[in-house]
Amino acid sequence: MATKTKKIILAYSGGLDTSCCLQWLKDKGFEVVCFSADLGSEFSPKELRAAAKKCGISKVYIKDLKSEFANDYILPALKAGAVYQNKYLLATALGRPLIAKHLVEVAKEERAEFVAHGCSAKGNDQVRIEIAVRILNPALKIIAPLRVWELTSRKSEIAYAIQKKIPIKTTTEKIYSIDKNIWGVSIEAGILEDLDNEPKEDAFIMTNPLERTPAVPCYLDIEFDKGKPVKLNNKSLDLVNLIEKLNKIGGNHCIGRTDLIEDRTVGIKSREVYEAPAAWILHLAHKELEALVLDKQTLYFKELISLQYSQLVYQGLWFSKIKQSLDAFTEKAQNVVSGKITVKLYKGNIIISKRSSKNSLYKKELATYGEKDKFNRDWAEGFVNIWGMPFIDK
Ligand code: ARG
Repeated sequence: MATKTKKIILAYSGGLDTSCCLQWLKDKGFEVVCFSADLGSEFSPKELRAAAKKCGISKVYIKDLKSEFANDYILPALKAGAVYQNKYLLATALGRPLIAKHLVEVAKEERAEFVAHGCSAKGNDQVRIEIAVRILNPALKIIAPLRVWELTSRKSEIAYAIQKKIPIKTTTEKIYSIDKNIWGVSIEAGILEDLDNEPKEDAFIMTNPLERTPAVPCYLDIEFDKGKPVKLNNKSLDLVNLIEKLNKIGGNHCIGRTDLIEDRTVGIKSREVYEAPAAWILHLAHKELEALVLDKQTLYFKELISLQYSQLVYQGLWFSKIKQSLDAFTEKAQNVVSGKITVKLYKGNIIISKRSSKNSLYKKELATYGEKDKFNRDWAEGFVNIWGMPFIDK
């Protein structure tokens, strides 16, 4: 009796890992269908299709998901103020649940029983993709070649790729692992694993070297409507365009590079270098606007939400109930987050220059030390007495 070949949908990026996975799965007898989510990656859809074809894959799904990514993943995280360990705006982490969602959809369309990904056993991405897949369709079987195959280093993967004639961009000299989307770039491995090594310029793809940034600053007006960035320099732009523009402008001024020793979900400390020009500009501008329009208690509470939110996203719990509840709080708080922030970009710095909002809680007549002061001095002594009472002996 002829055995039916098993169909598997591989989440394919065109990078070293998934290129090797593709070949390996074929060798294991699977009928491989590739799915690539275009979130603004290094590779164009054309390059991806050509590379997969070269490996003998006839069916390749490439979905342009930039708009869904911006509006349904980046935006909630921006509103929540999510930043992991103070330095990572979660570009990779936010993309994974979206990739998983579409992987599940393609599997349904193709009536495939299996899905595969190119994440390693040590990373966060296996957690993010697998938990999302299992929440969305528990019946799917997941194969993770990197957890089982004999290729245990990037060097051995490169050798395998060469032997199998798999087209790859990576070389043994430039051995970084790079993940890029419109919200930022994550760069690791190679010489970066040595903590004494400053990242070399060849590691960066979105930002200019600091030494080559313009000698004059650049001012940008960013307008938000209920927490969503809607205008750049008084021009309405959809979110994807606005982010892409800011990446270009910010990248030119070397904005948004960070270098983080981070705590992975699987317990390992690792070092990753990030570039996220648009993300940092928008994050800081949004926070600045919140400082102007949110009351003190809401602001304090939002700090807790931000911390929790970043951990949930990082640890692969995007589709959890708790994350939805945090979104609900955040969304409610964004009702008043409308207004304009002017930022100045200069030599890698984002400097807040102006803020304005119809919902501003700043009252000059209370803050001023000038003649128009309306603050009632008579209330102060009693207030200080009562406030300090629990801490003063007599
Ligand atoms: N450390 C980041 C995260 O867990 C990025 C992981 C992917 N990095 C990469 N260079 N491929 O979200």
